[in-house]
Amino acid sequence: MAKVKTSFFCQNCGAQTPKWTGQCATCSEWNTIVEEVIQKEEKRNWKQATAKTQKSKPLRIEEIQLNPEERIKTNNNELDTVLGGGLVKGSVTLLGGEPGIGKSTLLLQIALAIPQKVLYVSGEESQSQIKMRAERIDASSSNCLILTETNTQQIFKNIEKVQPEFLVIDSIQTLHTNSIEASPGSISQIRETTAELIKFAKETETPVLLIGHINKEGHIAGPKILEHMVDVVLQFEGDRNHAYRILRAQKNRFGSTSELGIYEMLSDGLREVSNPSEILISKKDADLSGTAIASTLEGVRPLMIEIQALVSTAVYGTPQRSTTGYNLKRLHMILAVLEKRAGFKLGAKDVFLNITGGIQVDDPAIDLAVVASILSSNQDIAISPHVCFAAEVGLAGEIRPVSKIDQRILEAEKLGYKKLVTSKYNKITSKKHTIELILVGKVEEAFATLFA
Ligand code: TYD
Ligand code: MG
Repeated sequence: MAKVKTSFFCQNCGAQTPKWTGQCATCSEWNTIVEEVIQKEEKRNWKQATAKTQKSKPLRIEEIQLNPEERIKTNNNELDTVLGGGLVKGSVTLLGGEPGIGKSTLLLQIALAIPQKVLYVSGEESQSQIKMRAERIDASSSNCLILTETNTQQIFKNIEKVQPEFLVIDSIQTLHTNSIEASPGSISQIRETTAELIKFAKETETPVLLIGHINKEGHIAGPKILEHMVDVVLQFEGDRNHAYRILRAQKNRFGSTSELGIYEMLSDGLREVSNPSEILISKKDADLSGTAIASTLEGVRPLMIEIQALVSTAVYGTPQRSTTGYNLKRLHMILAVLEKRAGFKLGAKDVFLNITGGIQVDDPAIDLAVVASILSSNQDIAISPHVCFAAEVGLAGEIRPVSKIDQRILEAEKLGYKKLVTSKYNKITSKKHTIELILVGKVEEAFATLFA
């Protein structure tokens, strides 16, 4: 007989302790330890365990049969790219993101667009609320069934009746299973319900997409083990004040994690953005100083982004430095390089740096554009709108080469730029381009060519 037992779990990090404490010893959060009923199976001797069922057997690597994963296209190019070509049969995908970012909207849109039979289970909204959302995004499908239910046993009963080819769960934190006493959203419920769904997915080869809430640190709420259990972890992010949403894979057992999908939240749902560069560059009439265009790569996709800088005399003793979308420490480094290697006196100036569109970039190839925007603002000379930048700046003030330079050149050319400033140490193999390349080796040279 199984024996019921309780244990204490941290609701923040999922650590388990035998007794209650005020502060979690693992993550140092206060008041996060709660008692949960767990069901612990009796310890079994491994010999008994193996005697009962012995299905699997070890194989040599050359004996293993490889069947190519079958993928289901979601009819949503951005999601398909991020997944690496569509949903793999029997895979479990977890989609995390801030409240209100558009997770339910995205999955409802996909559920209504996919030709396969879909069961959309919502534990958060009523059927009429979902109907209202479907009307708002102006989509309908006779192949998609909506179920409002939170008990996994009931869900499985419905699944047996419906036989869906694709299952959506909104959200994993609202589900509960009868085999455990703890309340929905607790660590042990999340772990158990996910395990049941994974078992269902693997046994029936049905792809399952789970929505997951995130906690205040931005991690998916629940035990860390959740991310280990599922096959794919997607993150839906973006600034709620901007219309753009970015979908990225944090983990993908069937593809790369470097791909990225971009959406725009409109009044009638999420629109896929296939040419992201356009939206990230503000349209301007007059030549304004302090802006520079950088060529960056998100995954394997080139992206042109606009960097804006404002340099002004500091009002207080200590000058302020602040950034949006760019690493502040890297800005400090660049300012130090400009001061020491190129002789610009920025020590007594406030410097504000902003990447437009509300996105976060950590590609070092945007360094030179950062330098250009700072100097442009400092000198109050506008940079021609036909020029863009792609290079890293080193501590010695040297302009360093960047990865995938050919792709960046072609993207800049495609978008109508006339000149690209980059490092002379790049290995450029592309011969097809007509865009003018300005090759520089030092910050001063770049400066001299720009503001001559
Ligand atoms: P939702 O999908 O409910 O977010 P989540 O499930 O991640 O919590 O998205 C809700 C937000 O999206 C809400 O603030 C309204 C906005 N929205 C639109 O702007 N246009 C739309 O067509 C829809 C359906 C929602
Ligand atoms: Mg939702």
